[in-house]
Amino acid sequence: MTLEQKKSIEIFCGTGGVGKTTLATSRALHLALHGQKILLITIDPAKRLKQVLGLEENTEGIVQTVKTSRFTNEETAAHTFDALLLSPSATFLKISELAKEKVDLNNGIIKILTKPYGGLNEIMAIVEVQRQLNTGKYETIILDTPPGKHFIDFLESSKKINRFFDSSFIEIFKYLGKSIDKEAAKPSLLTQLISSGVKKLLSYLQKVTGPEFVETFVDAIINIYRNKSGFLDALNFGDELRKKSFSHWYLVASVDQMKVEEARELKNHAKNFMHEDSYLVLNRCLTDLAQAWTPTRLSHQDFKNILLNKEQTLKEYANQTGLKMLPFTEILSSKPEHHVAQLAKQWDQVEIKRNL
Ligand SMILES: Nc1ncnc2c1ncn2[C@@H]1O[C@H](COP(=O)(O)OP(=O)(O)OP(=O)(O)O)[C@@H](O)[C@H]1O
Ligand SMILES: [Mg+2]
Repeated sequence: MTLEQKKSIEIFCGTGGVGKTTLATSRALHLALHGQKILLITIDPAKRLKQVLGLEENTEGIVQTVKTSRFTNEETAAHTFDALLLSPSATFLKISELAKEKVDLNNGIIKILTKPYGGLNEIMAIVEVQRQLNTGKYETIILDTPPGKHFIDFLESSKKINRFFDSSFIEIFKYLGKSIDKEAAKPSLLTQLISSGVKKLLSYLQKVTGPEFVETFVDAIINIYRNKSGFLDALNFGDELRKKSFSHWYLVASVDQMKVEEARELKNHAKNFMHEDSYLVLNRCLTDLAQAWTPTRLSHQDFKNILLNKEQTLKEYANQTGLKMLPFTEILSSKPEHHVAQLAKQWDQVEIKRNL
């Protein structure tokens, strides 16, 4: 199994600040320079990618073309890759237009839900990836995820969300008498029990918030329900991500003990997803730099040895995660574009070194 074997999806995950966005971008650059058709998607509401890629304001939700020359200073811009900053509302609008059930983005609750961190972030990311895969335009889609466990939690819970669409939603509509799903099944005993619960909940809500809020709430739910096929497709697609033939997982850790420990935790958390084609990317390694350094003072020699020993211990520890390790070195520059450009070159070395 090789890194060069093309996978439809490559996912970068890891804890905060370890270099996920930078490495995902460098991977896109590397593959684009090798002539592949690449789309880089970031779910990251921090939108650091915008800054790294030099994208204009208000480009969220619209696929942008990035010239590789931005990073490599090639004379002629021979290569490009596409990049997309996820906009949950833009994705929602696109699937709803496709389903001919245009969502009302001005509904107060939909507005809140489609804000970054608004609650629909992860599912919209999957919906968007699925949409982009369907275009058939890309050989590989690279996904930069937000820090931590949310994305994995979301994938884990996709079955529950599936059930939610099939039961709870229908109950709410039945009670409200808004017939929007003509094929809804006849109420079972359980259904009737849920209905009375929903009834109580909504009448209580109405007392507290007034009828206007309840109306907005119901309309929001109807908006979501009408587009349920888009969401359900995406939830099934979440399962595809587990497949080795389909995805590469990169768990990014940074060279400091805590970050590797955190990566180990995340790996255990994601054990249902990370198949054997998953890699622990050890970012900001210092070994190569330290080895190239010839200290003139004895105290500096001690310092160099400490650095080397520390990193060696760390790598042994990282090896225990059971994931294949890919080391990337610290880039001595303050410019994010330089980090991306240099790290892109290291993907070549990493592939050669590992004889992949
Ligand atoms: N190998 C490296 N050498 C030097 N600097 C690096 C390296 N990798 C990443 N950086 C820098 O570290 C900072 C954090 O990187 P980045 O934003 O990619 O992390 P992240 O994991 O995406 O963060 P977040 O969790 O906030 O999304 C950036 O300034 C980036 O340019
Ligand atoms: Mg990031």
